[in-house]
Amino acid sequence: MSKIRVLTVFGTRPEAIKMAPLVKEFEKQPDVFKSVVCVTAQHRQMLDQVLKLFEIKPDFDLNIMKPNQDLWKVTAEVLLLMKDVIEESKPDIVLVHGDTTTSMAAALSAFYSRVPVGHVEAGLRTFNKFYPFPEEINRVFADAVSSYHFAPTDTSVDNLKKSSIPHEHIYKTGNTVIDALLHTVENNKADLSYIGLKPELKTILLTSHRRENFGEPIRNICRAVLELVEKNKDIQVVYPVHLNPNIQEPVHELLGNKERIHLIEPMEYAPFCTLMKDSYLIMTDSGGVQEEAPSLGKPVLVLRTTTERPEAVQYGTVKLAGTDTQNIVNEVQTLLDNEEEYKKMSAAVNPYGDGLASRRIADIIKKEFENNLSK
Ligand code: UD1
Ligand code: UDP
Repeated sequence: MSKIRVLTVFGTRPEAIKMAPLVKEFEKQPDVFKSVVCVTAQHRQMLDQVLKLFEIKPDFDLNIMKPNQDLWKVTAEVLLLMKDVIEESKPDIVLVHGDTTTSMAAALSAFYSRVPVGHVEAGLRTFNKFYPFPEEINRVFADAVSSYHFAPTDTSVDNLKKSSIPHEHIYKTGNTVIDALLHTVENNKADLSYIGLKPELKTILLTSHRRENFGEPIRNICRAVLELVEKNKDIQVVYPVHLNPNIQEPVHELLGNKERIHLIEPMEYAPFCTLMKDSYLIMTDSGGVQEEAPSLGKPVLVLRTTTERPEAVQYGTVKLAGTDTQNIVNEVQTLLDNEEEYKKMSAAVNPYGDGLASRRIADIIKKEFENNLSK
């Protein structure tokens, strides 16, 4: 009996975290699926951390990352190299994730090869093509060329329906990030002692890496951290600094060697989940962290002016703080001083999934391609 040949493509840390549970799901059903994994390695070290944790050995590794790479080269290399991967692996379906340049270019490559594309985490939108840049257009593009749309929430389903995507191929599945989170939190208790955090202080976890925050916004965020640490002797800030040089340089210049500010290397996913759980609050411009933190009951201040993940904002556990120094300071200070406000924002809610998204996606693919199984 023939199997459904699924080619799963990813390249960056968040895609790897969110696609890993799906790859594992295909591997659990070897009679149904022939799972082929291609990593572009748009990220190298940060991708490898995730591959190691989930014990995924890619069948293809395009190894494209260059220091301070630009969008043109990443797009062109993925588009071209994927052509050969698709010709060699002959997939029935190519799966891409979310809104990175890897996902957009791999989806286009599969479309050119006339192989159906499944878009995992489809339908997220801010409806502003420059926020986030280039992700908003990457995901619009991936949705446009995809034949199967795995949307995490009602909002993302609605966004797709409004953009003239055929309704019969839009599926609400939940977000696979919750599959990854639940699996990781259940199976790991990491030792964070290497960071040197003091248990008697409140920990603020910070991450920031978005392109639209390069330059003045990231400097404003750093200035806010300096002011907060100066004003509040009972807090400590920990920032696993993204490896992008546009982030590394200003962050180390402004926050390096300061008391109660810990700049550390990007963390492996398991210890990072432990750190989220141990934190008092989280400041971030990350998409994935906005989805994970609410289910851990941690207030999130988003260092952006808009978000494609409005669900947790509606529940009141996530708030947009923007990138203005004074505004960030005020929002954090409120959560430090006002117990009521803190309690309201730390209610554990989980609008993004129930941990079964990968199984749903695998079931849908099985149903859609079941004719292949009887060949
Ligand atoms: C990329 C995605 C962004 C996603 C983010 C997750 C695009 C355009 N951007 O942004 O959507 O939110 O990943 O983190 O697809 N670097 C390393 N080692 C690594 C990773 C990055 O050294 O493991 C450095 C390299 O110098 C690299 C640079 O970071 O050139 C930028 O990486 P890139 O993937 O282009 O952009 P990100 O900002 O990471
Ligand atoms: N993450 C991690 N280690 C870190 C910082 C983040 O494992 O040091 C995880 C985080 O839990 C989330 C994902 O990486 O699952 C988010 O990645 P990132 O913020 O780089 O990208 P985005 O989600 O914004 O695209």
